[in-house]
Amino acid sequence: MATTNITEYLDQDERKDLLRFLTAGSVDDGKSTLIGRLLFDSKKLYEDQLSALERDSARVGNAGAGEIDYALLLDGLKAEREQGITIDVAYRYFSTNKRKFIIADTPGHEQYTRNMITGGSTANLAVILVDARTGVITQTRRHTFLVSLLGIKHIALAVNKMDLVDFDKATYDRIVADYKAFVAPLGIPDVQCFPLSAKEGDNVVTRSERTPWYEGKSILDYLETVEIGNDHNLTDFRFPVQYVLRPNLDFRGFCGKVASGIIRQGDEVMALPSGKKSHVKAIVTYDGNLDYAFPPQSITLQLEDEIDISRGEMIVKVGDKQPVQSRKFEAMLVWMDEQTMDRSKDFFIKQATCTTRCHIDQVNYRVDVNTMDHHDAEHLALNEIGLVRFSTQKPLIFDPYQQNKPTGSFVLIDPLTNNTAAVGMIRQSCADDTEGDNIYPLTEMLPRAAHEELLGQKGQLLWLTGLSGAGKSTIALAVERELHRRGRICRLLDGDNIRAGINKGLGFSEEDRKENIRRIAEVGRLFVDTGVITLCSFVSPTKELREMAREIVGADDFKEIYVSTPLEVCEQRDVKGLYARARRGEVKDFTGISAPFEAPEKPALALDTSRLSVEECVQAILNII
Ligand code: ADX
Repeated sequence: MATTNITEYLDQDERKDLLRFLTAGSVDDGKSTLIGRLLFDSKKLYEDQLSALERDSARVGNAGAGEIDYALLLDGLKAEREQGITIDVAYRYFSTNKRKFIIADTPGHEQYTRNMITGGSTANLAVILVDARTGVITQTRRHTFLVSLLGIKHIALAVNKMDLVDFDKATYDRIVADYKAFVAPLGIPDVQCFPLSAKEGDNVVTRSERTPWYEGKSILDYLETVEIGNDHNLTDFRFPVQYVLRPNLDFRGFCGKVASGIIRQGDEVMALPSGKKSHVKAIVTYDGNLDYAFPPQSITLQLEDEIDISRGEMIVKVGDKQPVQSRKFEAMLVWMDEQTMDRSKDFFIKQATCTTRCHIDQVNYRVDVNTMDHHDAEHLALNEIGLVRFSTQKPLIFDPYQQNKPTGSFVLIDPLTNNTAAVGMIRQSCADDTEGDNIYPLTEMLPRAAHEELLGQKGQLLWLTGLSGAGKSTIALAVERELHRRGRICRLLDGDNIRAGINKGLGFSEEDRKENIRRIAEVGRLFVDTGVITLCSFVSPTKELREMAREIVGADDFKEIYVSTPLEVCEQRDVKGLYARARRGEVKDFTGISAPFEAPEKPALALDTSRLSVEECVQAILNII
């Protein structure tokens, strides 16, 4: 090629579209050989790869003297070469004149289900291999099920080793009929079958003369031409906000990646969950402004109006079908952690750009990946898949996975180990009407700033935690009085009062305490949003409870005060006689006696009332307000 054409060629190369595909099948099916053949025959091998290949073939190849073993190309990891099996997801890249390709080469065994899910999560297409001598086997069904679970819309069934069955049409037809009967109920829109010999190259790159009865394309021809443009959801605009850009007072932009749909300058948009509306002023990118944008472009949206949107929220288009907003939903979950699911534990869920805490409410069933039968299950272990119900702390904004992959998928993070515990694909919301789908929050209410201006004070919340009898209420009452004297408006929320009113009927089980604190935090936030100084005095015995409260109220407005009076002192005081009763076993789950109390690690303030006077405690609190 002439040097002058090189830039042009590279430019053109740059613009070629990309097909990501997954290969599934075992070593014995000839998977690595097929990929090696695609790479080799598409003449895109780099020189050094080629010479290394020749060298290795001479050393450990199985192809026979003087022949190249294509499988070696793929078995890039030394460990694999020596074991003769593929052990992880390996990504390979190749390119033809028409397209660029990324292959996710995933291992076939059941214990590598999670690898296949990882490798397939971004794939447009799956190549599933079967050996012409054995046809469709359990593993083929398992792979196909996983592919359908991932919402992959195109399957190429590679019936390999046709040379070993003498290119027999009847054998091929039988395998294809078997497979089609099995795949039909899974609803995969595009399934194509190919009679191949990867080793000898039949129907890989060019049509083979040895299968005159086969009228379709070669598999590479199919990979180069299969239409994938419509695999993105282009109807419903979803823009999960990743970051708010504010280089100066005149510019505010919302950065992120278009998850689905198309957005044009001038379109009317709405921010969720607030419901506030505006119009698109500009679509800004690194390379200049755009008239319109589509997935998976990364853009910055500038809106006509100043509306508050933060990371984790979503911008959608007015008039489009709206996403679901719900705290409760069902999802197919693939368990990825060595540690079996522990349902008593909370997890972090990451979905779109939102991260929040979540709880696994129930495992509806586990799927036997080989037969697709459903079994009762309490939990899922490594590589197991099941339908699971969740509730999250903040409502998620999502679409069902099969309609929208980017907004319908999530990962679960173990908060202790930080490991990815599972990945999930959302099926549907399972909130009742009071909780989710049919809720349209008002957005025109007076903003907090308006209240604060009227009151001449800033809203904030002081959270007093500590044992029963530690002195929380006494201190809170004194602070309330002093603030009032100084002309401040405040509200005291205190354990027993709240439990006699809004939280009547809630007990002291872990679950009830959580609901107790959740409601209090929500109410506290309403006060803060009205500009009120809010004092909350609750035992709130665990870090988890207090973290939940902090998240609901908003970390900026939340100050944790630990009333750290020792247990012995509290018990001695025993104002309500509850310690004595707890010691006699008459009060269940009594904090400090028969239920735990976890001291805060970094409270804004720690006050021990056995050493400080009430006045000293009040002064210390006033100092941090
Ligand atoms: S919390 O644990 O859910 O935060 P909260 O502060 O609302 O508790 O209520 C605690 C008050 O309820 C205590 O001051 C005490 O008077 C009373 N109480 C009754 N039973 C218990 C119990 N089992 N554990 C702790 N407090 C209890």
